[in-house]
Amino acid sequence: MSESKGLILVVDDDREMRELLGDLLEEEGYHCERVNSAEAAIALIEAKTYDLVISDLRMTGLSGLDLLKQARLQRADQAMIIITAFGTVSTAIEAMKQGAYDYLIKPFKREHLLLVTKKAFERIHLQQELLRLRQVVSKQYQFSNIIGKSKAMQAVFQLINRVSESTVNIAVTGESGTGKELVAKAIHYNSPRKNQPFMAIDCASIPEMLLESELFGHVRGAFTDAKSDKKGLVEVAHGGTLFLDEIGEMPLSLQPKLLRVIQEKKVRRVGATHTLPVDIRIISATNRDLLHAVQAKQFRDDLYYRLNVLQIDLPPLRKRRDDISLLAGHFLKKYAAEQNKRLEGFSESALNILMKYPWPGNVRELENAIERAVTLSRDRKKTVSSEDFPPTVTGGREDQLLLDENLDKLASLETMEQEYVVRVLQAVGGNKAKAAQILQIDRKTLYRRLHDYQTNTLDE
Ligand SMILES: Nc1ncnc2c1ncn2[C@@H]1O[C@H](COP(=O)(O)OP(=O)(O)OP(=O)(O)O)[C@@H](O)[C@H]1O
Ligand SMILES: [Mg+2]
Repeated sequence: MSESKGLILVVDDDREMRELLGDLLEEEGYHCERVNSAEAAIALIEAKTYDLVISDLRMTGLSGLDLLKQARLQRADQAMIIITAFGTVSTAIEAMKQGAYDYLIKPFKREHLLLVTKKAFERIHLQQELLRLRQVVSKQYQFSNIIGKSKAMQAVFQLINRVSESTVNIAVTGESGTGKELVAKAIHYNSPRKNQPFMAIDCASIPEMLLESELFGHVRGAFTDAKSDKKGLVEVAHGGTLFLDEIGEMPLSLQPKLLRVIQEKKVRRVGATHTLPVDIRIISATNRDLLHAVQAKQFRDDLYYRLNVLQIDLPPLRKRRDDISLLAGHFLKKYAAEQNKRLEGFSESALNILMKYPWPGNVRELENAIERAVTLSRDRKKTVSSEDFPPTVTGGREDQLLLDENLDKLASLETMEQEYVVRVLQAVGGNKAKAAQILQIDRKTLYRRLHDYQTNTLDE
């Protein structure tokens, strides 16, 4: 006999029906067990894992619906198909609402049974795959994946370890590229919530209107584009963790709504009249001085304190130089393996340069520099040498190089500025919030400049 396609429990008090179902499924390659009551099924499900349960709705004793509820109490993801007579279709629909995968109406054709079963198994396999992936990710985000031997990072590890067990809201602060998102994921994947969703949203990159409905969801007709009901991330993250990136950019108008979610543990979709209970842990991140924003009345103090129950501050890489060589080695190994290169280490001068450079883009910039070096290094080389690094890192800084180039053609201040802004924007992968931070101008000013450059170019 070929390998079983999966284990199914058939539940029906009608013996003929039970045998027929079981035989059809077995012919198709599934493994089947048969019982004559919901009570018997519950006892079995308690002791053993079935991929799928197929049960009649109306039986003497407990019904198929009772079985469904009980089974899902024991195993939240228990897959189940309900069989129902023509007159009780509404109950079957109720069963779907309770989490049944599908239903079959009697009398049904053999093909129909097999199709519904096959579809159920496709979903089951998908879910199993998802679970497996989550486990892989969880291994990946154990602290071993956040690298750091500096005292500062060791303290961060301990803190992550301690807070993972709790559900307090946490604010992660630090410059761009210091690993804030990595820390947020480490907390989630080390917490009891690790098998629940981790949902991330970047408050800086989404317009206000959209952000509101992304976060809180909406009901159909709440606004012109709301064609159907939509769950917000707060709801999707239920049971898990919501990561609010660039929290400092959350518009003042949305802050009271978020506060309400935290205080009342309820969410109201945009346009809805009722609220839904939610259980989420919030981890927020910012590279801005939020207390400063609080003083400037750009950020509500009550929300600030609710989000900052505990703060984890990631120091910039230049303040933990011990970590540079460790991280560089780690990224070298990673990218050399990815690209099938034999590189084993760095030349002395290459290491010197890495240690001296101030790394304004922090770990992200270091990672990019190493990836580039690995890509550029010739096949047979065993060490990375200094000329493999980007010019920003070796000798000339980017602004210095830019100055030299423009001195050759004696460019205007305006042209210089424009070129520099564009280069910075390229360096951060087009992220305007980050570019503005490096340039030390606010985002509105940056938008305005970019707009001006564009119009100037069009005029020419
Ligand atoms: N300690 C670390 N060990 C290993 N990799 C790290 C570490 N810190 C950061 N990285 C890597 O650097 C990159 C940037 O990290 P991350 O996205 O977490 O930074 P961030 O603080 O959220 O930055 P931003 O403010 O720009 O969003 C990622 O690829 C991450 O894997
Ligand atoms: Mg980030």
